[in-house]
Parts: sequence; C-alpha cells; structure tokens
Amino acid sequence: MDALVADIHPPKGAEQFAADVIAGLSQPQKTLPSKYFYDTRGSDLFEQICELPEYYPTRTEMALLRDRASDVAARAGADVALVEFGSGASIKVHMLLDALDAPRAYVPVDISGDHLRAGAKSIAADYPGLAVLPVHADFTTQFALPPEVGDAVHLGFFPGSTIGNFTRDAARAFLADARRTLGDGGIFLVGVDVKKDQATLHAAYDDAAGVTAAFNMNLLVRINRELAADFDLDAFGHRAFFNDERGAVEMHLVSRKPQSVELLGQRFDFRADETIHTEDSHKYGTAEFADLAAAAGWRADEVWCDPDELFSLHLLRA
Ligand code: TRP
Repeated sequence: MDALVADIHPPKGAEQFAADVIAGLSQPQKTLPSKYFYDTRGSDLFEQICELPEYYPTRTEMALLRDRASDVAARAGADVALVEFGSGASIKVHMLLDALDAPRAYVPVDISGDHLRAGAKSIAADYPGLAVLPVHADFTTQFALPPEVGDAVHLGFFPGSTIGNFTRDAARAFLADARRTLGDGGIFLVGVDVKKDQATLHAAYDDAAGVTAAFNMNLLVRINRELAADFDLDAFGHRAFFNDERGAVEMHLVSRKPQSVELLGQRFDFRADETIHTEDSHKYGTAEFADLAAAAGWRADEVWCDPDELFSLHLLRA
C-alpha cells in the first residue's frame, strides 16, 4: 500500500478507537474504554504506578506470592500446566514456576499478539526445559487450552486485582468461563484487592506525585494525537473516589469549566465539573469474593492475606 492511501484511510485499529471514543462521549455519563490506557506512554506510567509508595497492591501481592508460592505448589501437586490470564506479570509468574514441582507447561493467554510473544519469549529463555504454549485469545471469555497440555493439572493465574476492573456481574461471568476453560480438576489463583478505609484507597488512586493523574490524562493526550481532537489538557483534571454503594474506586476526568471539544468533525460539550468515567476498581471483602466465586462454580480452598489485610490471594478449586 502506498503512503498516501495509508494516510487517507486510518488503519482498522484507529477506526475502532474512533468509534469507541465517539460512542463513549455521546452518553449522558460520558465514558472512555479503559483498554485504551495502555499505549507506550500509558504502559510506562502504569509501571511507575506499581512502584508508588501509595500504590500498595503490587508490592503486597508480590510479598504474598513469595510467602505462599510453596503452599500453592503443594496444593497443585506435580505435573501442572500454569495458565496465565494475560501475560506480563513475569516476576509473579517466576515465583510460581520456581515453586512448582516439575511444571509441564506455561500457557500465557493474551488478546495482544505483541504482549503474548514478548512474554512467551522471556519465559522460554528463563526456563529452557519448560513447554511454553501461548494462546492468542480474549481471556475474558471461555477459550480452548492447547492439546499439548493433555491431562496436566490446569492451574489458572490471574494476578494484579485485574478482576477488580470488571463489574461484579462481569467478574462472576468471567469466573464461570474460567471454570469451564480450566475444567473439572482445575485450580485458580486470583489476586484480589481488599475493601479498606477510604483514605488508603484514595491515595492509591490519586498519588502525591501525580503519576496516576498523568496516566488517566494520557487518554486525552492519546485521543488528541491519534484522532486529531483538541482537548485542552489544562482544562481537565484527574478525580478518584471510593463509591461505597458500588464497592469500587471510580476514576474520572473532570472538566474544570464549561467547554466544547472537537473530534473528527463532531462537537462534544462539557458542563463545568462534568466528568468522563474512565475506570472502576472493585474491592472485595474476603468472604464476599469467596461467595462470588462460589456462585461461578468454584470452591474457595484457601485465602491468604498480608498482616494488614490490604490484599488477598484466593485459591479456588473447581
Ligand atoms: N488493575 C489496577 C487497579 O485497579 C489498574 C489501575 C491502577 C488503574 N491504577 C489505576 C486504572 C488508575 C486506572 C487508573 O488497581
């Protein structure tokens, strides 16, 4: 294809992005899909979030995994196929693979071919004897495990409290699909952020250094760049708060004044203080999450928490 044609017709991904953004901004409560956070800059900012003093989930889950990997391994037994929902949690996966007794395979599952290839390559390099069997699929739906996995024990792994970014209904549906994917002998290790005081939650999603604000605002930067929009970045800001009724931290972008924005020939009006809802991070008491998993066909075998009860690791059995 010559360069001129490529310029006139945006690539398919860009058309989908444009359609999703226009649909989101056309609703009474404006929204933007959170999957668009992770361009190069967004992924870099998210790595910085994980290291912030206020963002306790990453380091707390790492410490829990370090302490409990041998317990997970003992419960899973020998001949395990480790199925990671998403790929990119490489340090966390190392902790499990190192603890497991002669794992048969590592199966990363990701909708992004690039992430999938990078993750598979790095694990294959670090574990020369291990069968690495990447699956290119949307892990939020049921998918088929590679035939080479055979009759190994299917141990699913879903860290990072990413399950908190689903609504409660979607989380239940996801757990039910994962139950079907992992099968009757399946085990599922899920990292879940715990409900706690509002000050701790707020700080984790609105840090003093402004990294989370930059991460949220980067969506507008991306829309300006890729969709030729004219969001005035100084006229929008980051807002995070815990919605007690929904049991979720909500992330919004707030219009600081009445204004309108133009995007691909369409105008979007904002009132002062009107928000664009960008993400939710649901929090669960340990019993509450065990009940949700039970409603999706899982038995809660074990739940491990840190001493401050900031974060939980749930070991579920089919
Ligand atoms: N899974 C992470 C969480 O809910 C994602 C996340 C962390 C996030 N900080 C954020 C998403 C800020 C949007 C905005 O904790």
